Amino acid sequence: MQESLITDENVELLLADLLEVYGYDFTDYSRASLKRRINRLYSLDKFPSFAEFRYHLRSDATYLKRFVEQITVNVTEMFRDPGFYKALREEVLPNLGTYPFIRIWLAGCSTGEEAYSMAILLQEANLFHKSLLYATDINPSVLEKAGKGIFPLSQMKQYSENYILSGGKKDFSSYYSANYDLAKFDEVLKTKMIFSTHNLVSDHSFNEFQLILCRNVLIYFDKDLQAKVFKLFDESLDNLGFLALGSKETLQFSPIASKFKKSGSEKIWRKIS
Ligand SMILES: C[S@@+](CC[C@H](N)C(=O)[O-])C[C@H]1O[C@@H](n2cnc3c(N)ncnc32)[C@H](O)[C@@H]1O
Repeated sequence: MQESLITDENVELLLADLLEVYGYDFTDYSRASLKRRINRLYSLDKFPSFAEFRYHLRSDATYLKRFVEQITVNVTEMFRDPGFYKALREEVLPNLGTYPFIRIWLAGCSTGEEAYSMAILLQEANLFHKSLLYATDINPSVLEKAGKGIFPLSQMKQYSENYILSGGKKDFSSYYSANYDLAKFDEVLKTKMIFSTHNLVSDHSFNEFQLILCRNVLIYFDKDLQAKVFKLFDESLDNLGFLALGSKETLQFSPIASKFKKSGSEKIWRKIS
């Protein structure tokens, strides 16, 4: 295995710089993943020394953009964990259907596959017309991609399988048009989406939601930061609203756990007080 070039002390220096110079606070992110990704970037960009890497990051705001893009993990897919989407279809959406208007926050939405999946679910549940999806992420580059709604055609086989496993009954290809090696999703799906940068570490609540999805984001945060973000979600959720997390994440043991009740076998909780 290749020796780590960036030391633990180097990582701390970079995180302190990011906070001091740009106001980006990554200090409560889990170190193992951060260090691995910083090392990768350092090698990729072939800096001759750590001092030069650090200088570049401190003095060049365009490099900051690349840095943020590279140290955040953006892996995502449509109908990821189909059982979760099945639970949304069968348990959560019928409930949300009783509201006159449905606001959904997808926090840490990455390149938007989750938002398009959610829009498809809402269409199939006949709730699309009275819903609004707020899709946010810390990284503006992924949001730019999300806004286009264009994904590699090569992934559609997998997404179609996920869709069917989630209880989808239509022909999945009816939701996109294929052009060369790209799949462009129906423009209508986008009409209910609002994309915006939002940093879960430092930004405040911006609305009241009936459903918040924050999946596969908190695994990169330490316990204190997770607790802070859970508080933000609690403040942003309507009473009886739903909070959905990723398969390796839990609300159990968090400071807000007593205000929520687990709903079914998937990682979905309902606010009860
Ligand atoms: C692994 S992706 C998860 C995407 C999607 N939610 C899913 O489950 O497929 C994690 C996303 O969280 C975003 N993220 C990381 N830190 C964040 C923060 N402080 N505020 C908002 N988003 C953040 C990353 O930019 C990335 O797009």
